[in-house]
This record gives sequence, C-alpha cells and structure tokens, in this order.
Amino acid sequence: MKMTSRWFLLRTCVAAMALASPIAACSSTPSGPSTTSAEVGATHYAKTCALCHGAHGEGYVADNATALNNPEFLTTASDDFLRRSIARGRPGTTMSAWDRLHGGPHDEDAIVAIAAYVRTWQKEPTVTLSEARINGDATRGAATYAARCASCHGATGIEGPNVHLGNAEFLAVASDAFLERAILRGRPGTTMQGYQGKLQFAEVADVVALLRSWAKPVATGDVPIPGTLGPIIAHPDGPEPAFVVGNRYTSADAIKAELDRGAAFGFLDARPPSDYVTSHIAGAASVPFYEAKDYLFALPKDKWLVSYCGCPHAESGQLADALLASGFTKVTVLDEGFYVWKDRGYPVRTGAIP
Ligand code: HEC
Ligand code: HEC
Repeated sequence: MKMTSRWFLLRTCVAAMALASPIAACSSTPSGPSTTSAEVGATHYAKTCALCHGAHGEGYVADNATALNNPEFLTTASDDFLRRSIARGRPGTTMSAWDRLHGGPHDEDAIVAIAAYVRTWQKEPTVTLSEARINGDATRGAATYAARCASCHGATGIEGPNVHLGNAEFLAVASDAFLERAILRGRPGTTMQGYQGKLQFAEVADVVALLRSWAKPVATGDVPIPGTLGPIIAHPDGPEPAFVVGNRYTSADAIKAELDRGAAFGFLDARPPSDYVTSHIAGAASVPFYEAKDYLFALPKDKWLVSYCGCPHAESGQLADALLASGFTKVTVLDEGFYVWKDRGYPVRTGAIP
C-alpha cells in the first residue's frame, strides 16, 4: 500500500506549537505501522467499525460516532489511546469493548492491526504531549463547563450526546494535556470548535481540573461471554404480533404492547456480547451483527424477530439485513434502540442469561 512511503523514521522535536499555550510539545513523524498489520486491520475495520465511524473514519454514520480521521485527534491520540479505546470501549455508550477479554470479537493482534489501520489516516506529525498535571480549579471550571460545554457533553459529562467526557475509560486514556489541547484547538470539521481566544488559558485549566475530578477507577476483570442462544421465542404459542412485513422499524411502545399480550416473537441483541452482558432486553438472544451468519441456522423463519442495538439502527440494521438476505421476512428493528427501551422502564436484565 502506498501509504508506507509516507512514514519516515525521522523524529524531530519542536520547541513550540503554533499554539501559545504552556504545554510543551514535541513532534515526531509517525513511526509507521507495518503494512500487513494495517491491511488486516482494514478488513476488521470494514466489518465492525465502518457502520458507525464511516468507511474512512469520517465519523457520524451512526449517532455521535466520532471522526477518527480528524487530524487533531490522530496527532494527539497515542497508540495506547487508540488500542485501549478500541479494546475496552467506552462502557455506557454505544462504543463497545471490542477485544475478546471483554466479550468482543477481536484478539489482541486484531486490535493492534485496527489501530494501525486507523493510524494510516494520519497525515501530519504526531504531537507528543506533556505528561504533567495541569493545575486548575474544578469549582470555577464547573461554571465555565455548564455555560460552554454541557449542552453537547452533558451536565456531568455522561449525558451526551457527544463524547462522554466523564467516562472512566476516556479519562483513563486522556491526559490533561490531551484535554487542554482538544479544548483549545477543537476538532475542525466537527461541531467541536476550538476555544483558543474564547476562553483564557486559566479558564481552560479550570475546565480540565473539573473533567479530571470525574475520573474514577475503571472496571477490571473478565466479562463472562454469553453461552448458548437459549430459547429465541418467549411465548411460542402466543398470538402473532401485529408487526408489518416490510416495515423496517417498529416503535418501542408497539413492541412492548405485543410483549405484554404474550405475542410470539423474539428479541435479537445485535451488539457485541460485552454490551449484552452489561444489560440487555429481558429474554433477548445475543446475536452479534458481525457474525450473524453463524447464528442463522438456530433462528426460526416462521416467527417474528426484533433486532436491536444501542446506536440505535446501525448494528441492528446490519443484523436485520443479514436475516432478510437469508430469506427471513418477519424481521423488524426496534426503532428507538436499547437505551430508550431501558429508560422507559421496560424489562431489561444483566448477565449472560437471556
Ligand atoms: C455502534 C456504533 C459504533 C461502532 C460499531 C464502533 N464505534 Fe467507536 N465510538 C462510537 C461512539 C458513539 C463513540 C463515542 C463514545 C462517547 O460518547 O464517548 C466512539 C468512540 C470511539 C473511539 C474514541 C474516540 C475519541 O475521540 O475518544 C475510538 C478510537 C473508536 N470509537 C474506534 C472504534 C473502532 C476501531 C471500532 C471497530 C472495532 C468502533 N469504534 C466501533 C460508536 C461506535
Ligand atoms: C456544539 C457541541 C459541542 C460543544 C459546545 C463542545 N463540544 Fe467538545 N466535542 C464535541 C464533539 C462533536 C466532539 C467530537 C468531535 C469528533 O468527531 O472528533 C467533541 C470533542 C471534545 C473533546 C475530545 C474528546 C476525544 O475523545 O477526543 C474534548 C476534550 C471536548 N470536546 C471538550 C469540550 C469542552 C471542555 C467544551 C466546553 C468548553 C466542549 N467540548 C464544547 C461537541 C461539542
């Protein structure tokens, strides 16, 4: 692949960035992923990432999936940042954990390969950020944050819609300097504007201190992987639900009404098992969208199947398409997605059991 010629071994440290900020910056040209690894990564990416982040990392194919090809992101996110974000995901968001340890489909080599592929979109030199803590006042930062940031990132950084800045996994990989630079320079081409010239450096430091105050220990340990599919249809002898063949989406309320009257249908959770284990619709079978084919033999063609995910349509849509392509007709997608179902207080459960 031609991109390898771009990676030189040359490393240069520059005294300062274009930015008049106190952060010390050191710049080096990316040290070049091996072509083979990136090629392998491209295949995995196309299958499990492009549906949300776009074929070229442009982002926003699914709601709020960030632009991975953004130069400001790529030049400041270390390999560790990328690999860990992919492996462990951002629990509580639609960004799943993708490594085997957490119930995802990819082994460690695949995670490295995917990160190497993402890295091929980087055209500008890597910026090595200072490891130093930035001293600010979180209380003062809270006022600035509420006025300037909460509308997109949520009042305490986890309400969304955009990047969950209060997420423990995010804060574990994002250094103070990473946060400071992202705030000052933004992510050009997205709705994340740069605040340089709009906020004083001290105000930015205060916001960084607030974000850092949200950090908490990340969950460790293995996640159990769902076992066999179990019964797919909760009430096999119940009435046929009033879903319409060819209607791609059905609302949460309509599905809940059919559940309440004991209609014969099943839920298929299209997300990686890591998400399923955390929380899923009670009775749902785990059928990860990226290996749908392996499960088709076990699914009934004569009963209705409701596919769902969190995002709310990308993964569930891929699973529905795999079913439709294989001759299933009684297939529909939970329109609002899992989180709306859960927020309405409809039945969910935790663990590997349907
Ligand atoms: C279902 C949609 C979806 C899929 C599939 C998905 N992501 Fe994500 N990803 C997201 C969202 C949404 C976020 C932002 C999470 C948040 O709000 O904090 C994200 C965040 C990330 C981040 C962190 C970006 C940042 O700015 O901090 C990386 C890296 C990433 N994804 C890579 C991947 C890779 C690689 C894959 C495939 C293995 C993948 N994602 C699959 C939705 C998805
Ligand atoms: C209009 C909506 C909006 C506002 C207001 C906003 N942001 Fe963002 N922010 C975003 C989006 C969207 C992204 C992700 C962009 C992308 O795709 O890379 C982002 C990304 C970030 C990131 C980088 C996260 C990562 O994983 O790379 C940080 C840090 C951040 N914002 C902090 C802030 C702070 C602090 C404020 C207030 C001073 C703020 N943002 C205001 C929309 C917003």
